[in-house]
Amino acid sequence: MRKPIVAANWKMNLTKKSAEDLIAKLNEFVYEDVEVIIMPPFTLLDMAASIADNRIKLGAQNCYYKKSGAFTGEISPDMLVDIGCKYVIVGHSERRHIFGNDLLRKKLAASKRAGLIPVYCIGETLDEKRKGKKESVLSEQLNIIDNLSMSLIVAYEPVWAIGTGVAAEVVTIRETIKLIRQKLREKGVKASVLYGGSVKPDNAKEIASETLIDGALVGGSGLNASSFLQIIDIFKEVRKC
Ligand code: PGA
Repeated sequence: MRKPIVAANWKMNLTKKSAEDLIAKLNEFVYEDVEVIIMPPFTLLDMAASIADNRIKLGAQNCYYKKSGAFTGEISPDMLVDIGCKYVIVGHSERRHIFGNDLLRKKLAASKRAGLIPVYCIGETLDEKRKGKKESVLSEQLNIIDNLSMSLIVAYEPVWAIGTGVAAEVVTIRETIKLIRQKLREKGVKASVLYGGSVKPDNAKEIASETLIDGALVGGSGLNASSFLQIIDIFKEVRKC
C-alpha cells in the first residue's frame, strides 16, 4: 500500500517561539510509515528547515511563477527549494477565488521547473454544491493540469468543509475522489489524492480507512502537536493492516 501523506497547512499562524515548541514536539515522533509535511508561513520556513527532524518534510503555502526579478513581496519556487522545501500549495481556496486558473497553471509549471511537488487544491463552494455544479467545477479546476507531466498531489478540499469543524461525509469524499482519479487518468496524470476540510482526530480514522484517499491536508488540527500527531498515528495504524 502507498505511504499515506499527512500535511499541516499552518496558514497565517504561529510565531517563532510557538512554532519552535510545536516542531520540538513533532520531532519526538516516529515517522517511518507516513509522509509528514508541515507548511509554515514564509517567515518560519528557514527556522523550520533548521530544527525539524529530516523525516518531516517542508512545504510552503504559496509561490510566484517567476524565477527571480522585480516582483516585490513575491517568493519564487527556486527560493523555496533553496530554503529546503519539497512541496508547495497551489490554489488553496482561500486564495484561488482572487487569482484564478491562469495564474495557477503558471505556478504549477514553475513549481515543476524548480523541482517542487505542488499540492494542488481543488474543491467546490457551498453555492456550487447546492446548484449541482460540483463535477463541472472540479473538471475546470483539473483542466489546468493538462499537458503538465509532473509529480503532483491533488487535495480535494470542499470549500464548505474548510475551517467549519464539519468534514464531508466519507461516502461523499470517496465518490468525489473516484471522479477526480478518473479525470486524472484521462489526462495521463499520476497523482496522490488527499482530502482536506476539518480533518480532526475524531474523524481521521473513518477517513484513513478509505483507501482511495491517500492522506489528509490538515488546517486547524495541524497547529497543535497532540491533535496532529494523533491524526498521523491513525493513518499509520490504519494503513498498516
Ligand atoms: P481545516 O483547513 O482543517 O482547518 O478545515 C484545511 C485547509 O484549509 O487546508
